[in-house]
Amino acid sequence: MNALSGKKILLGISGGIAAYKIPLLVRQFIQNGAEVRVVMTPDAKEFVTPLTLATLSKNEVLSTFTTTDTDNPNWNDHVAMALWADVFLIAPATANTISSMAHARCNNLLLAVYLSAKCPVFIAPAMDLDMYAHPATQKNLEALSRFGHHVLPVGTGFLASGLSGKGRMLEPEEILTHLMEYFSPELPLAGTTVLITAGPTYEAIDPVRFIGNHSSGKMGFALAETAANKGAKVYLVCGPNVLKTQNPNIERFDVTTAAEMFEQVKQLYPNVDYAIAAAAVADYRPQNVQNQKIKKKEQALVIDLEPTIDILAYMGKHKKNQQLIGFALETENGMVHAQDKLKRKNLDGIVLNTLADEGAGFSTDTNKITYIDKDLKATSFALKSKAEVAEDIFNQILAPHA
Ligand code: CTP
Repeated sequence: MNALSGKKILLGISGGIAAYKIPLLVRQFIQNGAEVRVVMTPDAKEFVTPLTLATLSKNEVLSTFTTTDTDNPNWNDHVAMALWADVFLIAPATANTISSMAHARCNNLLLAVYLSAKCPVFIAPAMDLDMYAHPATQKNLEALSRFGHHVLPVGTGFLASGLSGKGRMLEPEEILTHLMEYFSPELPLAGTTVLITAGPTYEAIDPVRFIGNHSSGKMGFALAETAANKGAKVYLVCGPNVLKTQNPNIERFDVTTAAEMFEQVKQLYPNVDYAIAAAAVADYRPQNVQNQKIKKKEQALVIDLEPTIDILAYMGKHKKNQQLIGFALETENGMVHAQDKLKRKNLDGIVLNTLADEGAGFSTDTNKITYIDKDLKATSFALKSKAEVAEDIFNQILAPHA
Protein backbone atom coordinates (compact mmCIF):
# COMPACT_ATOMS: atom_id res chain seq x y z
CA MET A 1 0.00 0.00 0.00
CA ASN A 2 1.03 3.64 -0.38
CA ALA A 3 -0.47 7.12 -0.27
CA LEU A 4 -2.35 6.61 -3.54
CA SER A 5 -3.64 3.08 -2.90
CA GLY A 6 -7.37 3.00 -3.52
CA LYS A 7 -7.55 6.73 -4.23
CA LYS A 8 -9.96 7.84 -6.96
CA ILE A 9 -8.16 10.25 -9.23
CA LEU A 10 -10.15 12.21 -11.80
CA LEU A 11 -7.78 13.51 -14.42
CA GLY A 12 -8.79 16.49 -16.56
CA ILE A 13 -6.70 16.99 -19.69
CA SER A 14 -6.87 20.24 -21.64
CA GLY A 15 -5.45 20.93 -25.09
CA GLY A 16 -1.75 21.64 -24.70
CA ILE A 17 1.27 19.84 -26.13
CA ALA A 18 2.24 18.59 -22.64
CA ALA A 19 -0.79 16.27 -22.90
CA TYR A 20 1.53 13.80 -24.65
CA LYS A 21 3.13 13.06 -21.26
CA ILE A 22 -0.15 12.25 -19.51
CA PRO A 23 -0.34 8.53 -20.46
CA LEU A 24 2.84 8.01 -18.39
CA LEU A 25 1.21 9.74 -15.45
CA VAL A 26 -1.92 7.59 -15.77
CA ARG A 27 0.28 4.51 -15.76
CA GLN A 28 2.11 5.64 -12.64
CA PHE A 29 -1.17 6.35 -10.84
CA ILE A 30 -2.42 2.85 -11.72
CA GLN A 31 0.90 1.27 -10.67
CA ASN A 32 0.54 3.00 -7.31
CA GLY A 33 -2.88 1.46 -6.76
CA ALA A 34 -5.09 4.43 -7.67
CA GLU A 35 -8.28 4.31 -9.74
CA VAL A 36 -8.19 6.75 -12.64
CA ARG A 37 -10.95 8.28 -14.76
CA VAL A 38 -10.20 10.76 -17.50
CA VAL A 39 -12.20 13.71 -18.76
CA MET A 40 -10.67 15.73 -21.59
CA THR A 41 -11.48 18.84 -23.59
CA PRO A 42 -12.24 18.27 -27.30
CA ASP A 43 -8.96 20.04 -28.16
CA ALA A 44 -6.94 17.69 -25.94
CA LYS A 45 -7.86 14.83 -28.27
CA GLU A 46 -5.59 16.45 -30.90
CA PHE A 47 -2.62 15.77 -28.63
CA VAL A 48 -3.34 12.40 -27.01
CA THR A 49 -5.89 9.78 -27.97
CA PRO A 50 -8.82 8.68 -25.80
CA LEU A 51 -7.99 5.08 -26.75
CA THR A 52 -4.53 5.33 -25.16
CA LEU A 53 -5.99 6.87 -22.00
CA ALA A 54 -8.91 4.44 -21.79
CA THR A 55 -6.55 1.47 -22.19
CA LEU A 56 -4.19 2.70 -19.48
CA SER A 57 -6.87 3.87 -17.05
CA LYS A 58 -9.11 0.84 -17.71
CA ASN A 59 -12.08 3.26 -17.80
CA GLU A 60 -13.97 5.02 -20.57
CA VAL A 61 -12.73 8.51 -21.37
CA LEU A 62 -15.28 11.31 -21.70
CA SER A 63 -15.01 14.63 -23.55
CA THR A 64 -18.57 15.62 -24.43
CA PHE A 65 -21.78 16.29 -22.50
CA THR A 66 -23.52 13.43 -24.30
CA THR A 67 -22.48 10.32 -26.18
CA THR A 68 -24.02 10.93 -29.57
CA ASP A 69 -23.43 7.74 -31.50
CA THR A 70 -26.98 6.47 -31.09
CA ASP A 71 -30.46 7.86 -31.55
CA ASN A 72 -30.72 7.98 -27.78
CA PRO A 73 -27.79 10.01 -26.59
CA ASN A 74 -26.51 9.31 -23.10
CA TRP A 75 -25.93 12.21 -20.79
CA ASN A 76 -22.41 12.05 -19.35
CA ASP A 77 -23.15 12.85 -15.73
CA HIS A 78 -20.56 15.48 -14.80
CA VAL A 79 -21.94 15.75 -11.27
CA ALA A 80 -21.55 12.03 -10.54
CA MET A 81 -18.02 12.09 -11.96
CA ALA A 82 -17.06 15.04 -9.76
CA LEU A 83 -18.54 13.42 -6.66
CA TRP A 84 -16.78 10.12 -7.42
CA ALA A 85 -13.32 11.70 -7.20
CA ASP A 86 -11.07 11.93 -4.14
CA VAL A 87 -9.03 14.43 -6.10
CA PHE A 88 -9.41 16.27 -9.41
CA LEU A 89 -6.15 16.95 -11.23
CA ILE A 90 -6.14 19.17 -14.31
CA ALA A 91 -2.95 18.46 -16.26
CA PRO A 92 -1.97 20.05 -18.48
CA ALA A 93 -4.01 23.12 -17.58
CA THR A 94 -3.79 25.53 -20.51
CA ALA A 95 -4.13 29.32 -20.20
CA ASN A 96 -7.60 28.95 -21.73
CA THR A 97 -8.79 26.31 -19.27
CA ILE A 98 -7.28 28.18 -16.33
CA SER A 99 -9.10 31.34 -17.42
CA SER A 100 -12.39 29.45 -17.83
CA MET A 101 -12.02 27.85 -14.40
CA ALA A 102 -11.29 31.23 -12.78
CA HIS A 103 -14.40 32.74 -14.42
CA ALA A 104 -16.84 29.82 -13.99
CA ARG A 105 -17.26 29.31 -17.74
CA CYS A 106 -18.84 26.01 -18.60
CA ASN A 107 -18.49 25.35 -22.32
CA ASN A 108 -17.05 21.83 -22.14
CA LEU A 109 -17.43 18.71 -19.99
CA LEU A 110 -14.12 19.21 -18.14
CA LEU A 111 -15.28 22.65 -16.95
CA ALA A 112 -18.70 21.31 -15.95
CA VAL A 113 -16.99 18.62 -13.89
CA TYR A 114 -14.72 21.24 -12.33
CA LEU A 115 -17.65 23.43 -11.29
CA SER A 116 -19.35 20.41 -9.71
CA ALA A 117 -16.25 19.16 -7.87
CA LYS A 118 -16.15 19.34 -4.07
CA CYS A 119 -12.91 17.35 -3.74
CA PRO A 120 -9.40 18.90 -3.62
CA VAL A 121 -8.35 20.29 -7.01
CA PHE A 122 -4.77 20.23 -8.31
CA ILE A 123 -3.78 22.28 -11.34
CA ALA A 124 -0.61 21.68 -13.39
CA PRO A 125 -0.28 24.72 -15.68
CA ALA A 126 1.47 24.34 -19.04
CA MET A 127 1.99 27.11 -21.58
CA ASP A 128 4.57 29.25 -23.30
CA LEU A 129 6.69 31.53 -21.11
CA ASP A 130 5.04 34.84 -22.08
CA MET A 131 1.54 33.42 -21.71
CA TYR A 132 2.48 32.17 -18.23
CA ALA A 133 4.10 35.48 -17.23
CA HIS A 134 1.16 37.56 -18.51
CA PRO A 135 -0.54 39.45 -15.65
CA ALA A 136 -3.94 38.15 -16.80
CA THR A 137 -2.78 34.52 -16.44
CA GLN A 138 -1.10 35.24 -13.11
CA LYS A 139 -4.31 36.89 -11.88
CA ASN A 140 -6.31 33.79 -12.89
CA LEU A 141 -3.86 31.48 -11.13
CA GLU A 142 -4.04 33.64 -8.00
CA ALA A 143 -7.84 33.40 -8.14
CA LEU A 144 -7.63 29.59 -8.34
CA SER A 145 -5.27 29.55 -5.34
CA ARG A 146 -7.72 31.76 -3.45
CA PHE A 147 -10.46 29.20 -4.18
CA GLY A 148 -8.30 26.77 -2.17
CA HIS A 149 -6.99 24.84 -5.16
CA HIS A 150 -3.45 23.51 -5.31
CA VAL A 151 -1.77 25.36 -8.16
CA LEU A 152 1.42 23.44 -8.92
CA PRO A 153 4.57 25.26 -10.00
CA VAL A 154 5.79 25.11 -13.58
CA GLY A 155 9.14 23.88 -14.81
CA THR A 156 11.75 26.00 -16.57
CA GLY A 157 13.41 24.94 -19.80
CA PHE A 158 12.88 24.12 -23.45
CA LEU A 159 9.32 24.88 -24.62
CA ALA A 160 7.41 23.54 -27.64
CA SER A 161 7.60 27.04 -29.22
CA GLY A 162 11.39 26.70 -29.38
CA LEU A 163 11.79 29.35 -26.69
CA SER A 164 13.22 28.56 -23.32
CA GLY A 165 11.77 29.72 -20.00
CA LYS A 166 9.16 29.21 -17.31
CA GLY A 167 5.96 27.48 -18.35
CA ARG A 168 6.60 23.74 -18.84
CA MET A 169 4.21 21.36 -17.14
CA LEU A 170 5.89 19.53 -14.23
CA GLU A 171 7.15 16.09 -15.21
CA PRO A 172 4.75 13.20 -14.47
CA GLU A 173 6.97 11.99 -11.58
CA GLU A 174 6.86 15.46 -9.99
CA ILE A 175 3.07 15.63 -10.26
CA LEU A 176 2.90 12.13 -8.75
CA THR A 177 5.08 13.26 -5.83
CA HIS A 178 2.80 16.26 -5.14
CA LEU A 179 -0.26 14.00 -4.93
CA MET A 180 1.60 11.42 -2.83
CA GLU A 181 2.65 14.12 -0.37
CA TYR A 182 -0.89 15.43 -0.19
CA PHE A 183 -2.32 12.04 0.77
CA SER A 184 0.53 10.76 2.95
CA PRO A 185 -0.72 12.30 6.26
CA GLU A 186 -3.53 9.70 6.08
CA LEU A 187 -1.03 6.85 6.09
CA PRO A 188 -0.52 4.64 9.18
CA LEU A 189 3.16 5.58 9.66
CA ALA A 190 2.80 9.28 8.73
CA GLY A 191 4.98 11.47 10.94
CA THR A 192 7.02 8.55 12.27
CA THR A 193 10.65 7.61 11.74
CA VAL A 194 11.78 4.03 11.17
CA LEU A 195 15.35 2.70 11.41
CA ILE A 196 16.15 -0.51 9.54
CA THR A 197 19.40 -2.46 9.41
CA ALA A 198 19.88 -4.67 6.36
CA GLY A 199 22.35 -6.87 4.54
CA PRO A 200 25.52 -8.59 5.67
CA THR A 201 28.59 -7.09 7.28
CA TYR A 202 32.11 -7.80 6.01
CA GLU A 203 34.90 -8.16 8.54
CA ALA A 204 38.35 -7.79 7.00
CA ILE A 205 41.00 -10.48 7.43
CA ASP A 206 43.54 -8.72 5.24
CA PRO A 207 43.28 -6.18 2.37
CA VAL A 208 41.70 -8.78 0.02
CA ARG A 209 39.73 -11.18 2.24
CA PHE A 210 36.89 -10.87 4.66
CA ILE A 211 34.46 -12.87 6.79
CA GLY A 212 30.91 -12.37 5.51
CA ASN A 213 27.65 -14.20 4.98
CA HIS A 214 25.06 -14.89 2.28
CA SER A 215 22.63 -12.11 3.25
CA SER A 216 21.43 -10.17 0.18
CA GLY A 217 19.69 -7.35 2.08
CA LYS A 218 16.43 -8.00 0.20
CA MET A 219 14.27 -8.42 3.33
CA GLY A 220 15.57 -5.21 4.91
CA PHE A 221 15.13 -3.26 1.67
CA ALA A 222 11.56 -4.57 1.31
CA LEU A 223 10.85 -3.42 4.87
CA ALA A 224 12.31 0.01 4.07
CA GLU A 225 10.09 0.45 0.97
CA THR A 226 7.02 -0.72 2.88
CA ALA A 227 7.65 1.65 5.78
CA ALA A 228 8.21 4.59 3.42
CA ASN A 229 5.09 3.70 1.43
CA LYS A 230 3.17 3.76 4.70
CA GLY A 231 4.31 7.36 5.24
CA ALA A 232 7.42 6.95 7.44
CA LYS A 233 10.76 8.67 7.13
CA VAL A 234 13.15 5.71 6.85
CA TYR A 235 16.82 5.40 7.79
CA LEU A 236 18.24 2.32 6.09
CA VAL A 237 21.65 1.29 7.43
CA CYS A 238 22.92 -1.41 5.11
CA GLY A 239 25.96 -3.59 4.67
CA PRO A 240 27.43 -4.36 1.22
CA ASN A 241 24.70 -5.12 -1.34
CA VAL A 242 23.70 -4.42 -4.94
CA LEU A 243 20.16 -3.20 -4.27
CA LYS A 244 18.57 0.17 -5.03
CA THR A 245 15.94 2.07 -3.07
CA GLN A 246 12.94 3.63 -4.76
CA ASN A 247 10.95 5.71 -2.30
CA PRO A 248 12.56 9.15 -1.85
CA ASN A 249 11.73 9.04 1.88
CA ILE A 250 14.39 6.38 2.42
CA GLU A 251 17.73 7.79 3.54
CA ARG A 252 20.42 5.22 2.99
CA PHE A 253 23.64 4.79 4.99
CA ASP A 254 26.08 2.31 3.45
CA VAL A 255 28.48 0.61 5.85
CA THR A 256 30.82 -2.37 5.65
CA THR A 257 31.62 -3.68 9.12
CA ALA A 258 29.57 -4.43 12.24
CA ALA A 259 31.45 -1.62 14.01
CA GLU A 260 30.47 0.89 11.29
CA MET A 261 26.87 -0.32 11.36
CA PHE A 262 26.84 0.09 15.15
CA GLU A 263 28.24 3.66 14.99
CA GLN A 264 25.58 4.68 12.46
CA VAL A 265 22.74 3.01 14.38
CA LYS A 266 23.91 4.55 17.66
CA GLN A 267 23.55 8.03 16.16
CA LEU A 268 20.13 7.47 14.61
CA TYR A 269 18.44 5.28 17.21
CA PRO A 270 17.56 7.94 19.86
CA ASN A 271 15.37 9.81 17.36
CA VAL A 272 13.32 7.00 15.82
CA ASP A 273 9.91 5.54 16.64
CA TYR A 274 10.57 2.05 15.30
CA ALA A 275 13.78 0.07 14.77
CA ILE A 276 13.93 -3.20 12.88
CA ALA A 277 17.17 -5.19 12.84
CA ALA A 278 17.05 -7.25 9.65
CA ALA A 279 20.82 -7.24 9.10
CA ALA A 280 22.84 -10.43 9.30
CA VAL A 281 25.60 -8.91 11.39
CA ALA A 282 28.81 -10.91 11.70
CA ASP A 283 29.08 -12.18 15.27
CA TYR A 284 32.90 -12.35 15.12
CA ARG A 285 35.67 -10.44 13.45
CA PRO A 286 39.42 -11.14 13.12
CA GLN A 287 41.21 -9.88 16.18
CA ASN A 288 44.06 -8.51 14.09
CA VAL A 289 43.54 -7.30 10.53
CA GLN A 290 46.71 -7.90 8.51
CA ASN A 291 48.05 -4.88 6.61
CA GLN A 292 49.40 -7.03 3.78
CA LYS A 293 47.86 -9.97 1.96
CA ILE A 294 48.42 -13.19 3.93
CA LYS A 295 50.68 -15.44 1.90
CA LYS A 296 49.91 -19.10 1.34
CA LYS A 297 51.89 -21.51 3.52
CA GLU A 298 52.08 -25.27 3.97
CA GLN A 299 50.63 -25.26 7.52
CA ALA A 300 47.00 -24.64 8.54
CA LEU A 301 46.12 -21.01 9.02
CA VAL A 302 44.59 -19.98 12.35
CA ILE A 303 42.75 -16.67 12.62
CA ASP A 304 41.78 -15.49 16.09
CA LEU A 305 38.30 -14.01 16.18
CA GLU A 306 36.75 -11.63 18.69
CA PRO A 307 33.03 -10.92 19.16
CA THR A 308 31.48 -7.88 17.47
CA ILE A 309 29.05 -5.71 19.38
CA ASP A 310 25.45 -6.96 19.34
CA ILE A 311 23.71 -3.94 17.79
CA LEU A 312 20.20 -5.17 18.54
CA ALA A 313 21.06 -5.93 22.17
CA TYR A 314 22.47 -2.38 22.48
CA MET A 315 19.20 -0.95 21.14
CA GLY A 316 17.21 -3.11 23.57
CA LYS A 317 19.29 -1.86 26.47
CA HIS A 318 18.92 1.80 25.49
CA LYS A 319 15.25 1.64 24.53
CA LYS A 320 13.10 4.64 25.50
CA ASN A 321 9.88 4.94 23.50
CA GLN A 322 11.00 3.00 20.44
CA GLN A 323 9.31 -0.18 19.27
CA LEU A 324 12.15 -2.62 18.66
CA ILE A 325 11.85 -5.60 16.33
CA GLY A 326 14.54 -8.22 15.73
CA PHE A 327 15.03 -11.13 13.39
CA ALA A 328 16.03 -14.66 14.29
CA LEU A 329 17.43 -16.86 11.57
CA GLU A 330 17.55 -20.37 12.94
CA THR A 331 18.40 -23.83 11.69
CA GLU A 332 16.90 -25.77 14.65
CA ASN A 333 14.54 -25.18 17.61
CA GLY A 334 13.44 -21.92 16.02
CA MET A 335 10.65 -21.02 18.44
CA VAL A 336 12.79 -21.60 21.53
CA HIS A 337 15.73 -19.57 20.21
CA ALA A 338 13.52 -16.75 18.89
CA GLN A 339 11.63 -16.40 22.18
CA ASP A 340 14.92 -16.41 24.04
CA LYS A 341 16.29 -13.61 21.79
CA LEU A 342 13.08 -11.60 22.21
CA LYS A 343 13.45 -11.59 25.99
CA ARG A 344 17.23 -11.38 26.17
CA LYS A 345 17.42 -8.40 23.80
CA ASN A 346 14.35 -6.61 25.29
CA LEU A 347 12.36 -6.64 22.01
CA ASP A 348 8.74 -5.80 21.20
CA GLY A 349 8.59 -8.44 18.49
CA ILE A 350 10.77 -10.89 16.62
CA VAL A 351 10.56 -12.31 13.11
CA LEU A 352 11.56 -15.96 12.98
CA ASN A 353 12.70 -17.52 9.74
CA THR A 354 14.10 -20.99 9.43
CA LEU A 355 16.65 -21.99 6.85
CA ALA A 356 15.03 -25.46 6.77
CA ASP A 357 11.96 -23.90 5.05
CA GLU A 358 12.38 -23.94 1.29
CA GLY A 359 12.27 -20.42 -0.18
CA ALA A 360 13.03 -18.79 3.18
CA GLY A 361 16.10 -16.90 4.34
CA PHE A 362 19.03 -15.44 2.41
CA SER A 363 19.21 -14.30 -1.23
CA THR A 364 15.76 -15.61 -2.22
CA ASP A 365 12.96 -13.26 -3.31
CA THR A 366 10.60 -15.06 -0.94
CA ASN A 367 10.44 -15.68 2.78
CA LYS A 368 8.38 -17.68 5.25
CA ILE A 369 8.10 -16.20 8.70
CA THR A 370 6.55 -16.51 12.11
CA TYR A 371 6.02 -13.24 13.96
CA ILE A 372 6.24 -13.42 17.76
CA ASP A 373 5.01 -10.42 19.72
CA LYS A 374 6.15 -9.40 23.19
CA ASP A 375 3.40 -11.47 24.83
CA LEU A 376 4.89 -14.44 22.96
CA LYS A 377 1.85 -14.73 20.69
CA ALA A 378 3.11 -16.39 17.49
CA THR A 379 1.55 -15.88 14.04
CA SER A 380 2.83 -17.97 11.14
CA PHE A 381 2.57 -16.93 7.51
CA ALA A 382 2.79 -18.84 4.22
CA LEU A 383 5.72 -18.53 1.81
CA LYS A 384 5.38 -15.10 0.17
CA SER A 385 7.39 -12.49 -1.72
CA LYS A 386 9.59 -10.40 0.57
CA ALA A 387 7.44 -7.33 -0.25
CA GLU A 388 4.35 -9.19 1.00
CA VAL A 389 6.25 -10.42 4.05
CA ALA A 390 7.23 -6.83 4.84
CA GLU A 391 3.55 -5.87 4.68
CA ASP A 392 2.67 -8.72 7.09
CA ILE A 393 5.42 -7.64 9.49
CA PHE A 394 4.17 -4.03 9.61
CA ASN A 395 0.58 -5.20 10.05
CA GLN A 396 1.78 -7.16 13.08
CA ILE A 397 3.82 -4.26 14.47
CA LEU A 398 0.89 -1.86 14.05
CA ALA A 399 -1.75 -4.29 15.35
CA PRO A 400 -3.34 -3.03 18.57
CA HIS A 401 -2.21 -4.99 21.65
CA ALA A 402 -4.46 -6.03 24.49
N1 CTP B 1 22.15 -8.70 15.55
C1 CTP B 1 22.74 -7.48 15.72
N2 CTP B 1 24.08 -7.40 15.97
C2 CTP B 1 24.84 -8.50 16.03
C3 CTP B 1 24.25 -9.77 15.84
C4 CTP B 1 22.91 -9.83 15.60
O1 CTP B 1 22.04 -6.46 15.66
N3 CTP B 1 26.14 -8.39 16.24
C5 CTP B 1 20.70 -8.78 15.34
C6 CTP B 1 20.28 -9.27 13.98
O2 CTP B 1 20.09 -8.15 13.10
C7 CTP B 1 18.95 -9.94 14.27
C8 CTP B 1 19.12 -10.46 15.68
O3 CTP B 1 20.20 -9.72 16.23
O4 CTP B 1 17.88 -9.03 14.31
C9 CTP B 1 19.40 -11.92 15.81
O5 CTP B 1 20.48 -12.29 15.02
P1 CTP B 1 20.94 -13.80 14.95
O6 CTP B 1 22.18 -13.90 14.13
O7 CTP B 1 19.77 -14.68 14.58
O8 CTP B 1 21.23 -14.11 16.46
P2 CTP B 1 22.43 -13.83 17.40
O9 CTP B 1 21.98 -12.90 18.45
O10 CTP B 1 23.64 -13.46 16.63
O11 CTP B 1 22.60 -15.26 18.05
P3 CTP B 1 23.04 -16.67 17.35
O12 CTP B 1 23.98 -16.30 16.25
O13 CTP B 1 23.66 -17.39 18.48
O14 CTP B 1 21.77 -17.32 16.88
